[in-house]
Amino acid sequence: MRFIVLTLFKEMFDAFVSTSIIKRAIDKNIVSIEILDIRNFTKDKHKRVDFPPYGGGSGMIISAQPLGDALDYAINSLEKYQKEIRIIYMSPRGKVLNYDLSKKLSQDNYNYIIICGHYEGIDERIIEEYNVEEISIGDYVLTGGELACQVLMDSIIRLIPGVITEDSLKEESHTNGLLEYPQYTKPYEFKGRKVPDILLSGHHKMIADYRKEESVRITQKFRPDLIQKNKIIPKKEGK
Ligand code: ADE
Repeated sequence: MRFIVLTLFKEMFDAFVSTSIIKRAIDKNIVSIEILDIRNFTKDKHKRVDFPPYGGGSGMIISAQPLGDALDYAINSLEKYQKEIRIIYMSPRGKVLNYDLSKKLSQDNYNYIIICGHYEGIDERIIEEYNVEEISIGDYVLTGGELACQVLMDSIIRLIPGVITEDSLKEESHTNGLLEYPQYTKPYEFKGRKVPDILLSGHHKMIADYRKEESVRITQKFRPDLIQKNKIIPKKEGK
């Protein structure tokens, strides 16, 4: 899967592509991530990429010219691959990202171009002309799309087969409509708190049942909306 990111702040991606699981996915050629500086595409003699909005208002808007040229370049370099190119703009007005959307986007039939806005946004004509999808990572506003883009890519890449073990994906939060059960490791006792004995019993079926119950309990505690949405029937207290 290929990602081309269009940004004015390339350096914000340095740690993302050179660390941990994402770095490994790149090294294993499961994904490639190319970061392009929108400024390199401006035809403005002062290298400007943003201008005040027509009609007045605060902030600056990224101009259609450099962004359009950057998109044309990115599309051109992805066209040789037999995959659909999806163009995404990270935006607080977009469709809100969740597990199901990340899962769909992690299917192997797409390559991506992701636009990171900064300032007040981008010229609307880019969105119309290039059939751009808009994705938000939550109902709040960031200073730019770069962090949101990393959240989106991370959530997609970790679901691509071969990036992390199938086992770690199987029981994590949101895969089955529930949050993950609590986890413990050494030491057995910490500040007087012991690991639940059942986890040391070696009885796999009982451990699995206990974890399922704990998942339901945790979900009910932190995200009762998921219990309702997924029609999960929690056990009554004390049963
Ligand atoms: N850019 C600014 N805020 C954002 C958000 N919440 N999601 C995605 N991109 C953004």
